[in-house]
Amino acid sequence: MNILRTPLVATALACAASLATSLACAQAAPKLKVGLMLPATGTFAALGTAIDNGFRLYVAEQGGKLSGREIEFVKVDDESDPSKATDNVNKLIKRDNVDVIVGTVHSGVAMAMAKAAKESGTLLIVPNAGADAVTGPMCAPNIFRSSFSNWQPGYAMGEVMAKKGLKKVVTITWKYAAGDESVRGFKEAFEKGGGSVVKELNLPFPNVEFQALLTEIAATKPDAVYTFFAGGGAVKFVKDYAAAGLKKTIPLYGAGFLTDGTLEAQGADAEGLFTTLHYADSLNLPRDGAFRLAYAKTYKLQPDVYAVQGYDAAQMLAAGLAAVKGDLSKKDEFAAAVEKTKIDSPRGVFTISKSHNPVQDIYLRQVTGKENKLISVASKSLADPARGCKL
Ligand code: BEZ
Repeated sequence: MNILRTPLVATALACAASLATSLACAQAAPKLKVGLMLPATGTFAALGTAIDNGFRLYVAEQGGKLSGREIEFVKVDDESDPSKATDNVNKLIKRDNVDVIVGTVHSGVAMAMAKAAKESGTLLIVPNAGADAVTGPMCAPNIFRSSFSNWQPGYAMGEVMAKKGLKKVVTITWKYAAGDESVRGFKEAFEKGGGSVVKELNLPFPNVEFQALLTEIAATKPDAVYTFFAGGGAVKFVKDYAAAGLKKTIPLYGAGFLTDGTLEAQGADAEGLFTTLHYADSLNLPRDGAFRLAYAKTYKLQPDVYAVQGYDAAQMLAAGLAAVKGDLSKKDEFAAAVEKTKIDSPRGVFTISKSHNPVQDIYLRQVTGKENKLISVASKSLADPARGCKL
């Protein structure tokens, strides 16, 4: 990196060159350019909005600045389309010259972003996509995640369902990294606990033509079904599952995305469903209470897990920036500080692993009315195994 091009040095030189002695010049810090690469269209659009809202809420609570630097946002709609991901992320890196990228929701898009971030050295904070590879084989000193790995909620649910004594399970999901990895995590724990996955069903992302697969589930007659769907697809799946008459006969379980941010649209069809996730609607933590109040006041909406992850992405950025006094060229110090920090999240305090993924409690929740109600801690301080990460 050319040190003269770092924002703090550039500002100092500009002030010196203009012979300005004003206090304003002495105090000016360049804006911090944050590139938000999130879906604004498609089945994950609402998830992107919630992350954006959460991130901005934290920044607003800090007076619009982090470590003295005003935040400037640049946005790209990634459409949850992996085929456009490299072009989209390069708009932020090469055209807009952002200081940090925050994104995205879809695991396939996130892997392309991680590759570009690793090659360019640009700081990347992933506020949702759980692609195991991002904090596994693709892990890097400049890549962080504020959300989860796909393995985490899946593994926790595998333990829960095995302990319930369920033996024969069918899985159903979208055929892409998030679905595959969620099922793999589930299967690892469920089979360790004595259960077996008798059929793995899937359909291409973001297809929602579930009928033929629901017929296959009915014919297989498993003890239960484990699923990963999210956003608009999760709404349709839960409604179709109930309409097919399966809800009454074959219990449906899932990674918590199945019922997070979706309950208004799912209505009674979601009632009673059990899921596992690193957030719930009734945690009873003062930090969560304050967050939920501020979010509802600002956006006239109830927050969900995606809003929390956006909020915590901003908290992680703030923690690293504070340690380097706003100078992102100090990459090693930034990373060391984030690795040491405890994030005081609405989900409960979490730490960041060496591979830069949250080490966090995974909750068992049950849908009651319009809430994902906390039932118990399914897995305490669960760390992703970070297979393949060399950090
Ligand atoms: C993913 O693609 O990683 C993902 C998308 C939505 C919710 C959770 C995970």
